Amino acid sequence: MKVALVTGASRGLGAVMATTLAKDGWAVAVNYANDSASANQVVARIEAHGGRAFAARFSVIDSAALRPGLEAIARQLGPVDLIVNNATGPQPEMPIMEQSWQTYLDQLEFFVKAPLELLQLVLPDWRARKSGRIVNIGSEVAELGNPYFGNYASAKGAMLSMTRSWAKELGPEGITVNLVAPGWIPVERHVDASQASRDHYLERTPLGHFGKPEDIADMVAFLASDKADFITGQRFAVNGGRTLT
Ligand SMILES: NC(=O)c1ccc[n+]([C@@H]2O[C@H](COP(=O)([O-])OP(=O)(O)OC[C@H]3O[C@@H](n4cnc5c(N)ncnc54)[C@H](OP(=O)(O)O)[C@@H]3O)[C@@H](O)[C@H]2O)c1
Repeated sequence: MKVALVTGASRGLGAVMATTLAKDGWAVAVNYANDSASANQVVARIEAHGGRAFAARFSVIDSAALRPGLEAIARQLGPVDLIVNNATGPQPEMPIMEQSWQTYLDQLEFFVKAPLELLQLVLPDWRARKSGRIVNIGSEVAELGNPYFGNYASAKGAMLSMTRSWAKELGPEGITVNLVAPGWIPVERHVDASQASRDHYLERTPLGHFGKPEDIADMVAFLASDKADFITGQRFAVNGGRTLT
């Protein structure tokens, strides 16, 4: 059974990615940093359907925690074959004059530093096996450039450039690297979003409705599957056509 690590999988998009990958036959490490009860529920859902999963608690932005985290996954499930870099912390929006280098760094820690340090830990093994997959979770804002969000947009933009560079560097070794760029997909943290902001968003969405976490998870599962063997270095927008406008 191949092993997937989904970072930030205790809720939101990551939780659905984890259950979707498990349905496809992956053993799934459900990573999280804080909410053990929710992570355990995701694991229980997977096991109830006959799958294998492990709640892997470590903060992806804590460099020292990554090696022990991967070792615990290897003991429980086996060495990781796929990393889905999905975890996110708070995403504060604020005007440029209120931003600081630290507010930028806070986003880069999740979307650039953590993926880099995880990759460096698995790469010797992947190189030896001439296989391995990365799916980075970006955002449409890297392309749209939402105002007051330079911190987050820059980090997601960097994640996309990193995806392309890694794909070229690692392609000859049989390792693929792709990025899925969701639009706004309402999850638990959006319960308080106003109707006005929802309507405003949908006005610029050709398909005219919100996507579901499953829409993102299905693209991740496709990129993780053998069907995507010949795809690398690509960005897949899953946003109802928003980045056409
Ligand atoms: N939902 C959207 O509309 C949307 C749109 C575009 C892009 N995205 C991207 O999609 C990804 C998932 O977003 P989401 O909306 O599903 O977020 P979310 O609901 O806030 O979930 C974030 C996940 O990350 C975990 N997490 C937080 N800090 C962590 C850390 N230091 N180490 C490991 N895990 C940590 C959280 O679990 P704990 O709190 O238990 O640690 C949680 O499981 C993000 O990369 C986001 O930028 C989302």
